[in-house]
Amino acid sequence: MRIETDPLAVQREALARRARGQRVGFVPTMGFLHDGHASLFDQARPDCDWLVASIYVNPLQFGPTEDLAQYPRDPDGDAARCAAHGVDLLFMPPLLYDADHSTQVRVDGLTDGLCGRDRPTHFQGVTTVVARLFGLVQPHIAVFGEKDYQQLAVIRRMVRDLAMPIDVRGGPLVRDHDGLALSSRNAYLSPDLRRRALSLHRALFAMQAACASGETDVSALLALGHGLIDSDGFDYLEIRDATDLRPLTAVTGPARAFTAARYGRTRLIDNVSLAAPTAEAG
Ligand code: PAF
Repeated sequence: MRIETDPLAVQREALARRARGQRVGFVPTMGFLHDGHASLFDQARPDCDWLVASIYVNPLQFGPTEDLAQYPRDPDGDAARCAAHGVDLLFMPPLLYDADHSTQVRVDGLTDGLCGRDRPTHFQGVTTVVARLFGLVQPHIAVFGEKDYQQLAVIRRMVRDLAMPIDVRGGPLVRDHDGLALSSRNAYLSPDLRRRALSLHRALFAMQAACASGETDVSALLALGHGLIDSDGFDYLEIRDATDLRPLTAVTGPARAFTAARYGRTRLIDNVSLAAPTAEAG
């Protein structure tokens, strides 16, 4: 595995490889990599000739009161993990934007609710950096974790709307041994906060089980979940259509339950799929 810091050197190599008929795979990250990221590398690896991972803590997607300065970093551990999971090139630009960078990419609608409500500039920062990274890495396929399910839906919409010839794939959310969704931000949690944070996935799983047993009314499912979540501040618990993220009143097709809550100064998100029983299953 090679490490590259120069954005234009990455683009030159990507274009040369594409010209030779190679397939380029890409997993963008902000580093402090865990098994969830590794699963994305593993997913991309068999379908490309050249696998690029990037690590860039993108200032554009952090709000003024968020944890940009404290965002956890582990460049050596990250490089070892990338190498162990078949990454060919680790792109770690110290700077990604020109000093007079003036283009923003904004996806409307899908970014209004869920995390977009409390983080109004977040998704514009994500789509702007991902569009720039796509221009540099020139991937045929790009893999994003379903832990950030709304982000994945927003990136898919950007790629469709801007006719980018990229196959965007979702990688299943990976959980720790105790069920907590893996996140770089879990490093901030004290043992007590972590114990309380387990209520997030327990609530989501209870809603998933209730839905599978025939409770399709969204108000009833949300009441069940609200009763189980223990947090210091609750951002949302919602059920939405799994594809276009529109709010639902009943689960009649593929749906998703989403939550975000605060534990101390740490904001955690989680989500699960919901499916009502099929007619054949009774
Ligand atoms: O999911 C992340 O780690 C980031 O939002 C991403 C996609 C790398 C953009 O900075």
